[in-house]
Amino acid sequence: MHDTTPLIEVNGLQTQFFTDEGVVRSVEGVDFTIPAGKTLCVVGESGSGKSVTARSILRIENPGRIVGGEILYHKDGEVIDLARIGPKTRQIRQIRGRDIAMIFQEPMSALSPVHTIGDQIVEALTLHFPISKDEAKRRAIEVLGRVGIPKAADRFGAYTFELSGGMRQRVCIAMALSCEPRLLIADEPTTALDVTTQANILDLIADLQKETGMAVMFITHDLGVVAEIADEVAVMYLGQVMERGDVDSIFHDPKHPYTRALLDSIPRLGQRGAHRLASIRGMVPHPFDRPSGCPFHTRCDSYMPGRCNRIDPPAVSFGPGREAKCLLHTKEEGVA
Ligand SMILES: Nc1ncnc2c1ncn2[C@@H]1O[C@H](COP(=O)(O)OP(=O)(O)O)[C@@H](O)[C@H]1O
Ligand SMILES: [Mg+2]
Repeated sequence: MHDTTPLIEVNGLQTQFFTDEGVVRSVEGVDFTIPAGKTLCVVGESGSGKSVTARSILRIENPGRIVGGEILYHKDGEVIDLARIGPKTRQIRQIRGRDIAMIFQEPMSALSPVHTIGDQIVEALTLHFPISKDEAKRRAIEVLGRVGIPKAADRFGAYTFELSGGMRQRVCIAMALSCEPRLLIADEPTTALDVTTQANILDLIADLQKETGMAVMFITHDLGVVAEIADEVAVMYLGQVMERGDVDSIFHDPKHPYTRALLDSIPRLGQRGAHRLASIRGMVPHPFDRPSGCPFHTRCDSYMPGRCNRIDPPAVSFGPGREAKCLLHTKEEGVA
């Protein structure tokens, strides 16, 4: 699994918001790799910086600012550091939507209420490809069909208010896929949908991925979804990747107490009281009250006073692409 070439390498990424109340360190040194053609799931409780990380890759982090690190995009043997491109440059506009596309939790935020769904896809297509309106329309109908919109040719002229939530999300996926991106970023795309529609959308993304060979960065707080679709997993907490690795290792040999706590919060089938979802004790600290040392120490069952609250845990490697930031794995004398 680790011999695959990276498509995106995120190293030490820092993204911050400068507000009147102070600096919000939303992304505070994030590292992960998205292998070409594979699915990376990014998990973590809300407020852990998943969305800001995704938006930083596309350079739509505004009003936030990338203040450190790199986002290396491997494109045909060339390496482009997306963190260093201006968010309004021609170069990023050519990559955004074309090479890297994104779908959001709330499809209405990505769709225009005053244009037909067909016109919106045609616009995306003609922006990136030198094709005629007719050819763009033909491709738009084809991609609407591919995402399971019934009678796609008739629906071409539909407005978003005429569609159900599930159909709207399909339109967003169609729009994202219309340019055949190398990376699809999906930011909790099924959370606003009912369970059956959720499952259909997940199947759809998996099928399209098989068909087109694109990589997927899938953001979710649902570990059930992760188990189903991930190749690689990055577990985030308060702007850091606490642990990452292949999906089997994350589920069967978690190295970080935070990962273990997340896993313990999944209800297991057949278990007594399984309908009650356990949650990790305590609350995610407010971004202005970032704990010192390990950000998770205030809620950790393995908290070591005097160490975890003082020392910023370094990433400990357990093999290629397999890392955890926890002092349980660091020898005392090895730490500054
Ligand atoms: N526009 C913004 N201004 C200030 N803080 C923000 C803004 N957007 C996000 N944040 C903060 O950044 C942190 C990470 O947010 P986010 O990436 O949305 O978390 P997640 O997607 O993991 O739930 C949160 O503390 C959030 O409040
Ligand atoms: Mg989010």
